[in-house]
Amino acid sequence: MGLHALVIGGTRGIGLALVEALLADPAYDCVTAAGRQIEENQSFGILAAAHGSRFRRLRLDLCDEAGIETAAAELKAACPALHLLINTAGLLHGDGLSPERRLADIDPVALATSYAVNAIGPILVAKHFHSLLAHGERAVLATLSARVGSIGDNRLGGWYAYRAAKAAQNQLMRTAAIELARRARELIVVSLHPGTVETALSAPFRGNVAAEKLFTPAFAAERLLAVIAGLTKDASGGFYAWDGQPIPW
Ligand SMILES: NC(=O)c1ccc[n+]([C@@H]2O[C@H](COP(=O)([O-])OP(=O)(O)OC[C@H]3O[C@@H](n4cnc5c(N)ncnc54)[C@H](OP(=O)(O)O)[C@@H]3O)[C@@H](O)[C@H]2O)c1
Repeated sequence: MGLHALVIGGTRGIGLALVEALLADPAYDCVTAAGRQIEENQSFGILAAAHGSRFRRLRLDLCDEAGIETAAAELKAACPALHLLINTAGLLHGDGLSPERRLADIDPVALATSYAVNAIGPILVAKHFHSLLAHGERAVLATLSARVGSIGDNRLGGWYAYRAAKAAQNQLMRTAAIELARRARELIVVSLHPGTVETALSAPFRGNVAAEKLFTPAFAAERLLAVIAGLTKDASGGFYAWDGQPIPW
């Protein structure tokens, strides 16, 4: 039987590139893309026309726990075993957020918004979807984090809300990895850094990034899937970059 993957945040950016890369892999019988607006998404329309029933859409907003629970139940009814879940959804700017340069810029509402999407949403996904990944075969639960969420690697400062929310995400996912290792022995849980990728999220901040360090979404997706393919059970709970190198907490 073929594999089934779910990409949350599949509407655009790295998530959409991951959906496209997974659909190009014949090992996957079914690829589900989840997001807030799934009917209106033109890329989804094109993928549905090209891939028919191999491509599925699922409505999911990371800030709506009841909706996450409903989405998990809906997917479980259609495809009970999931081999790969990648949550790419994240927020750096917009929705009232603008990365802080100094303490004076700290806004509690913006901090809470960043935590809601970048930290709380990912662990709610683990809470409601982990049973679909616990079926005795190898399965991976990966969440896109960011190197700037590393406390040990923080030398530049700034970006308080995003850094702190991604650090919290890493801690939450590591804690889930420890718990799930006891109950789902073939499940690997990791946080991944995709590199600096040409998407809406990075657009205002990549002026100083050298061309060779700026990845296309398709390249980032290819690298992330290669890292995921190489993960062994003892990698669970780790934080890895697009090249497979571990990142300090
Ligand atoms: N791009 C980079 O250079 C870079 C670097 C390091 C880490 N990352 C991380 O990589 C991940 C993907 O980033 P990207 O560059 O692809 O960003 P992007 O192009 O801005 O896409 C962000 C995605 O997150 C989704 N999203 C935001 N809030 C959501 C919510 N409440 N519920 C469900 N989905 C939500 C968006 O969905 P909608 O279409 O509905 O808005 C969209 O699919 C993020 O976690 C980001 O922090 C990116």
